[in-house]
Amino acid sequence: VPIVPPTLIRAHRLVTCDSARDELGAIDDGAIAIEAERIVATGTFPELSKRFVAAPVIDHPGLVTPGLVDAHTHAAWMGDRAREYAMRMAGADYEAIAAAGGGIVASMRAVREASTEAIADNLRARLRRMATLGVTTIEVKSGYGLSEEAERRQLEAIASVSSDRSLPRVVATFLGLHAVPPEQRGDRRGYAQRCREWLDGIVRDRLAQFVDAYIDRAAFSVDEVRPTLERARELGLGLRLHVGQFADVGGAELAAELGAKSVDHLEHCSRSAADALAAAGTSAVLLPVASYTLRQDPPNVAQLREAGVALVVASDANPGTAPTESLPLAMAMAARSYGLTIDEVLLGATSRAAASLDLDCGVLRPGASADLVLWSLRDEHQLVQPAGVSLTAQVFSRGLRIA
Ligand code: NIG
Ligand code: FE
Repeated sequence: VPIVPPTLIRAHRLVTCDSARDELGAIDDGAIAIEAERIVATGTFPELSKRFVAAPVIDHPGLVTPGLVDAHTHAAWMGDRAREYAMRMAGADYEAIAAAGGGIVASMRAVREASTEAIADNLRARLRRMATLGVTTIEVKSGYGLSEEAERRQLEAIASVSSDRSLPRVVATFLGLHAVPPEQRGDRRGYAQRCREWLDGIVRDRLAQFVDAYIDRAAFSVDEVRPTLERARELGLGLRLHVGQFADVGGAELAAELGAKSVDHLEHCSRSAADALAAAGTSAVLLPVASYTLRQDPPNVAQLREAGVALVVASDANPGTAPTESLPLAMAMAARSYGLTIDEVLLGATSRAAASLDLDCGVLRPGASADLVLWSLRDEHQLVQPAGVSLTAQVFSRGLRIA
């Protein structure tokens, strides 16, 4: 049951991520008033305690931030690829493993063999663990079904957990264009055409809000995915695209042209593409755990920043390139390996991530969803260190305590 009537949360240090104040919108001895699912006021504790005289107070001696928003995950995966990981650590190549029938297609086999209930159970358990890390919203992609039936079952599993208010909020993305299934090997265009045909049913049954495609040298080309993405846009779905992970094949330009909400990875991206993304208002979702496990150099963050592209940080949780469930780990790596400032990391995992998903969370401001984390930490500087354990005291999503 959500908190009603108004309750005050007092924070030794409140980081609102409300840009109406300043970038981080930090308030020492701050407070938030919550009523049901919404934030009704933010300010200093002395101010709010006068306005809400009768309200009970949760007095938190540490840091309070918006709930974290993980804007890129493949969290509905089944099985694992630990042997592949060991092979890669011993020198085998990710793209070569995929070409030999491993990689994404190995996870496809595991999903096809699983029941919808088993996928949902697995995802539910994963989301519970993510909540304990402070994550209150998670984007989850399909992309391990690669047939209409199996993609739909993955999306149905995602939908079945998304109605559970005791879990983080879930946003579903259809990623049929993740890899070509073995039964259509060599016919990428034909497979992309099929994905295009599945869109009507997906929209009719409200199974996804976004469509993704893996645009890269060993995946799909711009020409192959364009018709599917144009159709998705016609149907009112947003676009978030895997772009430039191994090579720049023009995906960022296509994303900008189609008004995509995000381009994700961007280890390879030109200055002119960065300018096009900034002009289109397309966010860059940075995935430092993936480039770390692949032993890649980071994207050109300075170039994206100079171009004025909004930077988002996400986990990429998946069994291949980012075998983690931890957005806080990705945040620590964004600070350490990508050179993001602490403010950029925090905004990239809250307000900017939420904006890339068209959501009214990720920010502590009147009217926003009551999604917030009471951390067992003194201030935000402690939040970007690679802690390796959960540092949350209490986690609220939509006014309800979920961890
Ligand atoms: O974001 N690059 C494509 N997709 C995923 C990897 C998926 C997988 O290996 O299963 C990524 O890195
Ligand atoms: Fe990914």
